[in-house]
Amino acid sequence: MAKAAPEALSSSKLSVNIAGLTLSAPTMLAAGVVGITPSLLRRALDSGAGAVLTKSIGLNPREGYRNPTVVGVECGYLNAIGLGNPGVQAFSEQLKNIKGDLPIIMSLFGSGPEEFSQMMPLLEDTPVKGYELNLSCPHVKGVGVEVGQDSEMVSKIVSVVKRGTKKPVFVKVSPNVGNVVEIARAAESVGADGITAINTLRAMTIDVEAKRPVLSNKFGGLSGPAIRPVAVRCVYEISSVVRIPVVGCGGVSKWSDAVEMLLAGASAVQVGTGLATQGYGVFKALNEGILRYLSEHGFERVEQIVGLSHSF
Ligand SMILES: Cc1cc2nc3c(=O)[nH]c(=O)nc-3n(C[C@H](O)[C@H](O)[C@H](O)COP(=O)(O)O)c2cc1C
Repeated sequence: MAKAAPEALSSSKLSVNIAGLTLSAPTMLAAGVVGITPSLLRRALDSGAGAVLTKSIGLNPREGYRNPTVVGVECGYLNAIGLGNPGVQAFSEQLKNIKGDLPIIMSLFGSGPEEFSQMMPLLEDTPVKGYELNLSCPHVKGVGVEVGQDSEMVSKIVSVVKRGTKKPVFVKVSPNVGNVVEIARAAESVGADGITAINTLRAMTIDVEAKRPVLSNKFGGLSGPAIRPVAVRCVYEISSVVRIPVVGCGGVSKWSDAVEMLLAGASAVQVGTGLATQGYGVFKALNEGILRYLSEHGFERVEQIVGLSHSF
């Protein structure tokens, strides 16, 4: 007889509905952290993630930066992978080989509306359930936050993507912009279905013996525990002004971090560095902790705690 799933992997109390997607749990794998291998995306789902994000994919194949591209610092990781990817056509073919009806969200990047509009027709046959636009990578020229810091540009990009798909579109925003709330509002005003907050913070570290920057690109993005309070602040501010769901991302590794994001106004949370430090068991641990918190505090469903901290 098949072994019963542990409660935290199957409880309907954990299920959330975000932008029309029903997820079995409010925990997701953040974009890019396990690269582009479909079997690793599947492993995260089998480990309890309610959805998984792919690595960010662009119109054309792109080499990433040379090593070192990831370095541990005492408060998290610094990475500048450089958005290396096989291009949208080749990646779509890989995705078509994934069996089953799985909650996979594809992360996309591009230099402007033209590139995004060329990508959309190449994607419609893939089995993904939605898209997350990476308008927030802090270390690649001409894409990411360089386009995502301009609210007019964000509106144009979201508009062309929305015209190209009926699937939900999330916009991933950067803490490195002057006013993250304005960017989220611009995305919502042209039909974005959700906001993911946040991507990494632009940062750098220097090897004092070699007297040179450690990352080959010099600058990278800081992730992990150090950025959690920044992410919580962004989630709180954005969810105060938009009506679409906000997905919290940044430094979540313990169940209390996830609950904090939900209380700040996130409808679900993404985990990146937490997976690197804790392994795939992180999703089960988070789900179990959220479930325990709900029951200890007398709540029936995750939705009941979303944004609760705003009433103070
Ligand atoms: C090695 C690595 C690769 C990443 N690649 C991407 C990417 O391709 N697209 C993207 O939107 N974010 C990417 N990110 C950012 C994460 O998705 C996430 O926004 C960030 O790391 C903060 O979450 P965390 O503190 O849980 O890691 C990457 C992060 C890391 C550490």
